[in-house]
Amino acid sequence: MNDVKGYMEAHELQAHDNADLIEEFSDELAKMTGKCIDIGCGPASVTRKLLMPRLPPNVHIVGADISKKMIEFAKQTHSDEKRLSFIELDVEAEKIPKELNCAFDNAVSFYCLNMCQNTRRAFENIYQILRPGGRALVLYVAYHKIFDCYLRIAQMSQYKPYMTEVTKFIPKFQHCDSPTVQMKKILEETGFKVLHCSLRKKTYIFRNLEIAKKHFVAVNPFISKMPEDVGKEFGNVLARAFASEKNKELNEEEEVLDLHHLLIIHLEKPEREK
Ligand SMILES: C[S@@+](CC[C@H](N)C(=O)[O-])C[C@H]1O[C@@H](n2cnc3c(N)ncnc32)[C@H](O)[C@@H]1O
Repeated sequence: MNDVKGYMEAHELQAHDNADLIEEFSDELAKMTGKCIDIGCGPASVTRKLLMPRLPPNVHIVGADISKKMIEFAKQTHSDEKRLSFIELDVEAEKIPKELNCAFDNAVSFYCLNMCQNTRRAFENIYQILRPGGRALVLYVAYHKIFDCYLRIAQMSQYKPYMTEVTKFIPKFQHCDSPTVQMKKILEETGFKVLHCSLRKKTYIFRNLEIAKKHFVAVNPFISKMPEDVGKEFGNVLARAFASEKNKELNEEEEVLDLHHLLIIHLEKPEREK
């Protein structure tokens, strides 16, 4: 994800859910010690504004992201904050850099791991970078209506050529009846002790269609591949597909209700590995 400006302007939904999670786990966060990695930190606005104030002052946070642009922006924007540093990292990589082995006491990852196709490998890598006894807190999108809109729009002739890999971008549990069971199995097979894993149905209200559109444009992986005019229309089509309800005329000024499902996951790497 490389649209730094777009994401900075339109990530209220993510910030809202992250704030809820950080509040819920505030006691746990307040007990952290050592080093914490924020995987998929993006521009690190959530890292700095929501996460950092909840951690003890001696905890150092390393923001990590696959996107060079996000990391460059984060480094520049937060260069005044000594408790923060940044690295480029693909959490899904076949091999992660040796120096990251057991390098962190804690990991958090918000709104990122659902973007990984190889969920198991992403969690194996998190296991690897945590020290024994280290803990991870994860917010993972299990279902969102926008992904069903992707699948429908990918059939439209004008967008089809740019969306040939659409299934890569559909989260693993989008069409799964038992995401909690499936996810727990992956986590336990990886070696984690699962302290918590639950499914939450969350709502969010976009004030109007234009605001919803900005949100979906900022996080979608297709527009950057399209010519400008096609991309512009795609944004409109996407937002309208999301907001449309059966038998109801779409009013662009009306609020748009977003319902999505999240997996909230809290993990521990056992002191003694299996
Ligand atoms: C929706 S943003 C979330 C940013 C931030 N955590 C927040 O909640 O505002 C997802 C971020 O995950 C990053 N990302 C996606 N796949 C990744 C991977 N395999 N490894 C590391 N970061 C990844 C994207 O580049 C993007 O910056």
